[in-house]
Amino acid sequence: MYPKNAWYVACTPDEVDDKPLGRMVCGEQMVFYRPQDGQVAALEDFCPHRGAALSLGRVCEGKLVCGYHGLVMGCDGKTAAMPGQRVGGFPAIRAYPVIERYGFIWVWPGDAAQADPAKLHHLPWAESPDWAYGGGLYHIKCDYRLMVDNLMDLTHETYVHTTSIGQKEIDETPVTTKTGGAEVITSRFMDGVNAPPFWRANMRSNGLPDDQPVDRWQICHFSPPSHVMIEVGVALAGHGGYQAPDDKKVSSIVVDFITPETETTMWYFWGMARNFNVRDKNLTAQIKEGQGKVFAEDTAVLEAQQRNLTLYKNRKLLMLNIDAGGVQSRRIIDRLIAAEQASQATAVAV
Ligand code: FES
Ligand SMILES: [Fe+2]
Repeated sequence: MYPKNAWYVACTPDEVDDKPLGRMVCGEQMVFYRPQDGQVAALEDFCPHRGAALSLGRVCEGKLVCGYHGLVMGCDGKTAAMPGQRVGGFPAIRAYPVIERYGFIWVWPGDAAQADPAKLHHLPWAESPDWAYGGGLYHIKCDYRLMVDNLMDLTHETYVHTTSIGQKEIDETPVTTKTGGAEVITSRFMDGVNAPPFWRANMRSNGLPDDQPVDRWQICHFSPPSHVMIEVGVALAGHGGYQAPDDKKVSSIVVDFITPETETTMWYFWGMARNFNVRDKNLTAQIKEGQGKVFAEDTAVLEAQQRNLTLYKNRKLLMLNIDAGGVQSRRIIDRLIAAEQASQATAVAV
């Protein structure tokens, strides 16, 4: 189950630059393409003639041409032309609201009338020259909410990411979880610890010594429908931790856009935004490679977890204090789904 009246990251701009892209988002099979340079459109990936995937076609003079028998589809979902046919009576297909912003292409899979661009998640770092971003995409065979759980409880780093960002103090330090409005925040602060390898490398990249104790923090922000931004960093111990001056710390934002594909599969747009050495492209590539390896470790765990949950559907799971972030995030998701279902029921009744 997923809310459909929301902006989800569907793809990155490079994925549609050369040819149409077929992708399922929230159970909707869509095609994304560029009618003109700088524009983007999203339609049902279904040719009204015989149901071929329009994503296998090509873009010609701003329209999508079906690769099977040449039907010409407009961005509004109405057939514009087809060789040798009158197309006025052809059924329309769905056109989805879509926005390109912040280096991502966002789609609204639900009721188009409610698709307000102002509801798009705001990413100030994506528009600032003081920040750099690098990231990637994984397709993962699990319910997207398992990824929300994973990111809203970083205790697992001690066990899943032993060689990069894990350390025993994560396990030993309690988390604080609070909900405010539509956001859930889970924080953990570890003072006077040794930095794990990933952070030692970042300290060196920022001109800091890597052999001294640090104060480390992780502040996970969940916001609907399923975005998790995690403020992470380390500061030389005793300089104020999270509040330490810039020359005493290195910090970044772990960016996670979690887009359901089906009930048990998802698209994971992961990355890291940083505000140090922003013009160093090698560093961006290096961080991306490291992060990609770390997140591949989560993928293996989550896919196996999903297989278990599918196999043993009725098994009761525990809810411990470390699970509070995921539990509260799921409550918000559940509320959104319930509200959508209630409004659909009202619409049917009227
Ligand atoms: S299926 Fe698309 S034109 Fe025939
Ligand atoms: Fe992880």
